Amino acid sequence: MLNWLGGPHTKAWQSTLGPLRTSAGMVSVRPIRLRDGQIWSDLRIRNEKSLVPWEPTGIGSWAQRHHRSQWGPLYGALKSEAKRGTVLPYVIELDGRYVGQLTVGNIQRGAVRSAWIGYWIDSDHFGGGIATAAVALGVDHCFGPIGLHRLDATVQPANLASQAVLTKVGFRNEGLLKRYMDVDSKWRDHLLFALTVEELPGTAVEALVRSGRASF
Ligand code: ACO
Repeated sequence: MLNWLGGPHTKAWQSTLGPLRTSAGMVSVRPIRLRDGQIWSDLRIRNEKSLVPWEPTGIGSWAQRHHRSQWGPLYGALKSEAKRGTVLPYVIELDGRYVGQLTVGNIQRGAVRSAWIGYWIDSDHFGGGIATAAVALGVDHCFGPIGLHRLDATVQPANLASQAVLTKVGFRNEGLLKRYMDVDSKWRDHLLFALTVEELPGTAVEALVRSGRASF
């Protein structure tokens, strides 16, 4: 799949990950599709309240930015980054239905071999272990076929649910990044969570299953 010092195989982003059983149902992670536009728009608009406090500031209203017509250009941009090996743009599915997204970005090769990971879930499904399962699947894909060594996740101190997800998968808090990101029209401090491949005894999914939080 991977040339270790250079780029990835261009099809590496097309894998489907899982499924993994959680208390909410079967969780899997798959590549974004052009036909995801309507459900993407519906869920993003319906979840404005739960997403705005944590997501980068954008230009235009939330409704404008998440109109169905915006998916085509966004999908095209993500797909071309994915083909270049710099982004893994995924949908999180629960029992085969789109319930959120998982993205791995800024994939760097060479001596660093790192990336960031981010995610969101439809609020109707909060607390069912979906994000935790999806992140574990993403981590194993990044440390396995993609060949990364380190994953970063930046999260605001007030975002306790996201910190719980990261901690359950094995990420550590490495400290506070002052005024790190423009979120909801202000520069917000973020905690830097990170995980390197040596810290996982086996895989993230195996650890989750051992802890009783998911099963195959
Ligand atoms: N305080 C402490 N813990 C909390 C709180 C809270 N206020 N709310 C939820 N939790 C815990 C839950 O109890 C659960 O832990 P447990 O299993 O030990 O009980 C954990 O947070 C949530 O785990 P999951 O059920 O796997 O997560 P979920 O599927 O509900 O998704 C997510 C979590 C993605 C953070 C969701 O709330 C969401 O989409 N929020 C809005 C967008 C967002 O914040 N995205 C993350 C941005 S940061 C980043 O991407 C790195």
